[in-house]
Amino acid sequence: MAAIEDYKPGLAGVPAALSEISYVEGLQGTLEYRGIPIHELAQHSSFLESCFLLIWGHLPSLDELQAFEHEIRYHRRLKYRIRDMMKCFPESGHPMDALQACSAALGLFYSRRALDDPEYIRAAVVRLLAKIPTMVAAFQMMRKGNDPIQPRDDLDYAANFLYMMNEREPDPLAAKIFDVCLVLHAEHTINASTFSARVTASTLTDPYGVIASAVGTLAGPLHGGANEEVIEMLEEIGSVDRVEAYIEGRIKNKQKIMGFGHRVYKVKDPRAVILQGLAEKLFAEYGGDRYYDIALAVEQAVEKRLGAKGIYPNVDFYSGLVYRRLGIPSDLFTPVFAIARVGGWLAHWKAQLGENRIFRPTQIYSGQHAQPYISIEERTLSKVFPSLEATNGKKA
Ligand code: SDX
Repeated sequence: MAAIEDYKPGLAGVPAALSEISYVEGLQGTLEYRGIPIHELAQHSSFLESCFLLIWGHLPSLDELQAFEHEIRYHRRLKYRIRDMMKCFPESGHPMDALQACSAALGLFYSRRALDDPEYIRAAVVRLLAKIPTMVAAFQMMRKGNDPIQPRDDLDYAANFLYMMNEREPDPLAAKIFDVCLVLHAEHTINASTFSARVTASTLTDPYGVIASAVGTLAGPLHGGANEEVIEMLEEIGSVDRVEAYIEGRIKNKQKIMGFGHRVYKVKDPRAVILQGLAEKLFAEYGGDRYYDIALAVEQAVEKRLGAKGIYPNVDFYSGLVYRRLGIPSDLFTPVFAIARVGGWLAHWKAQLGENRIFRPTQIYSGQHAQPYISIEERTLSKVFPSLEATNGKKA
């Protein structure tokens, strides 16, 4: 029988998995994928190479990487029925809801759950990594009333997504910076959406349902949805001289400041450090963003007021400024986060299958026992004659 002191809100500090996939240390601000520091991967790796590392546990040989990239290039297209389904979505719908619906719908085409077949696992990994960006870009085009743009097999993963968004081939620098963003967002131990993925995977459902669960979880503003809220916050602040008052107001009203704080990091998120550098590189090449000065002032103000509590920028604080400069609309920031995190979710899906026990935690019951059933007549009467209520429905 669990005791009340065993209950940890939000499972804070409770290990829910044994994992070799990634490692985070919150006081130094360390993040490693399969033991490789994130800044090494950001500098030297690519998104698909990092996904291979996360999912299969080792850096691929040249042949393995080329085969993986080749398979993904040729699985990017969507079934016409998925595209037709998207045509029924309201333009005003949030792209994360569209992505969650399409991810689950993929399962309609591949519902054979051969979870003990490595080829089935590999096919699902390839399909989801290949098709999720196409879904996001297709919804973006359709909600503008346009036909979706077919993927181009001659473009790499990052360049192809940016191309499908506006039918313009991106500069090599923009595509490279976007690929680094995908590396940075691919995996982050047992965060809320990855936990969702593992819980769903533990029931042995299909991988498309697993990803749909995770997408729904990532959408929340306390998790992946914060990157969109950060831009809204910078827009609302409007100028550097209004930063202090805004931050004071949020703190006074006990409102969270979007893009700050983390369950694990008590220093600046190492991904935020790299993303800030990428933003500055883009600004140097393509022109600045007035929101960047406001963001710097927000970071300074929050550090002054909340740094002692270990509240610093997280991954969502600077990512939106990078995406804005790449021409990505703000309500697509979280779908872009999802495109990257599919790599980590698939790694955890595969790992969960490797040593599975269905998740079924316990609870501390804080309700009553031995309560009487009160008929609808008595309940109605007690509304008419409140005194009856006082006697808990017993006749006066
Ligand atoms: C991501 O888990 C992951 O790894 C997630 C992620 C990943 O890669 O998957 O890193 C991606 O989700 C990043 C987080 C994006 N969310 C936001 O930016 C939303 C704002 N942040 C907060 O909601 C919050 O910091 C969380 C949700 C990120 C963490 O919440 P916790 O660990 O439950 O912390 P808490 O809410 O218990 O806060 C502890 C204290 C509280 O003060 P006290 O009541 O103890 O006095 O810190 C304060 C909080 O009020 N606090 C904040 C704050 N975050 C925490 N105060 C103001 N602004 C904030 N952002």
